[in-house]
Amino acid sequence: MQTDSSFTFVLFGGTGDLSMRKILPALYEAHRAGMLAASGKIVAVARHEEDRAGYLQWVNEHVKAHVAKSGIDEGAWASFVDRIEYVKLDLGKAEDFVKLRDALQDQSGTRVFYLATGPSLFVPICHALASVGLNENARIVLEKPLGYDLRSSNAINDAVGEIFAEEQIYRIDHYLGKEPVQNLLALRFGNALFEPLWRREWVESIQITIAEELGVEARGDFYDNTGALRDMVQNHLLQLLSIVAMEPPHSMDSDSVRDEKLRVLRALKPIDPRDISKVAVRGQYHAGVIRGTSVPAYATESGVKTDSATETFVALKVEIENWRWAGVPFFLRTGKRLADRVAEIVVNFRAVPHSALGASALRAGANRLVIRLQPNEMIRLYCLAKKPGEGMNLSSVHLDLAFDQFFKEGQMEAYQRLLLDVINGRLALFVRRDEQEAAWKWVEPILNEWAASGKPKPYAAGTWGPAAASAMLAQHGTCWLEEEN
Ligand code: BG6
Repeated sequence: MQTDSSFTFVLFGGTGDLSMRKILPALYEAHRAGMLAASGKIVAVARHEEDRAGYLQWVNEHVKAHVAKSGIDEGAWASFVDRIEYVKLDLGKAEDFVKLRDALQDQSGTRVFYLATGPSLFVPICHALASVGLNENARIVLEKPLGYDLRSSNAINDAVGEIFAEEQIYRIDHYLGKEPVQNLLALRFGNALFEPLWRREWVESIQITIAEELGVEARGDFYDNTGALRDMVQNHLLQLLSIVAMEPPHSMDSDSVRDEKLRVLRALKPIDPRDISKVAVRGQYHAGVIRGTSVPAYATESGVKTDSATETFVALKVEIENWRWAGVPFFLRTGKRLADRVAEIVVNFRAVPHSALGASALRAGANRLVIRLQPNEMIRLYCLAKKPGEGMNLSSVHLDLAFDQFFKEGQMEAYQRLLLDVINGRLALFVRRDEQEAAWKWVEPILNEWAASGKPKPYAAGTWGPAAASAMLAQHGTCWLEEEN
């Protein structure tokens, strides 16, 4: 479907890493698929390039390599590049914003300002836009991290909120744009089959893992001041949790969905600082081997302090205090330099209450739903079936829905979906301020406790994190999915 109307997409941080790797490739894909209105323009804003010719050269040299699977269609690429204008702008110079306003004067339709910059620039950019009247009838997109804790995130939201109304603000969490996350909504609310089972009576525990093989790459400096709790848990993992656990919304409109997610975030059982060691594990990777390649310790990465106490791994036990979920542990986990790159949600249903079929009907490995977000997106339902032959011997089997085999085309990268949503004014997949506040409030006791004492537990790169993460599950008579296989 093509965007509703004409638009101007103004990209601050136009030569930054995010623009190069994600935003421009996603806009190209949308353009190539015919999803952008023909008259829509992209106006890149940066300091480094002198003029449009210089910027387009940068785009040709740096962005093409990041265009996904489908590769480059030279004709489409040429017409995509034609959409791009460039404004050289120094954020400190008020006159440069006048120049930007003048450059946008002839453009009609929806106006989007995408701030692919560090969060310290969000407020100054918003003020500068307002000073030349560019905040009127515009949408603003804020990238994460939005703040460092509740206080700093409130400060940004307050300041931006004085200039843009909440309905104009699109806070990106790219996990919400991933196809399988959308599919989770379809699975839960499009099928009568799962909903009756999706509750404490039938669910024993839920695991949500986002594991990465990558380390901190070139972002050592940023990451060392951030850590996995802020980088992944406060946003991506808690957003996934809220989608898994939310009540069926009245409709799919943006506030119905976000109201339900908010209810989950507000129902998270507060963490008592005295219990943190029982429900939270933090780790930091040491040197190790991933897929046959040696990788260095976190503390020796460039930009990282040698005595850093920043966590690169987090595992948590979370509880939701409501009727649907009381007593069901949700185990969340994320880490860098782990044994595999995988993001998945594992719903462990309870075993049958009595087995007329022998003890094998009570074993683990069945009554389980796995929603794999990446790689190889799929939904897999594990059940028990009788092994062929004599006797009643049961074996775990699975029913699979592999998305790329079932739906041969039409898959969309998260950023492509989210950018189209911004242009089309659809807010459902963006984080509302109250959700963000609730998430910060919940993680803050852990942040404070970890900042005040102790150090992360070491784990070798290429493993699944510190042993304490497994011990936490063992206390509940369960284990992480990969430990079973
Ligand atoms: C980002 C984090 O939000 O998500 C990164 O800042 C992380 O540290 C990335 O690597 C993971 O995203 P994805 O889509 O590659 O799983």
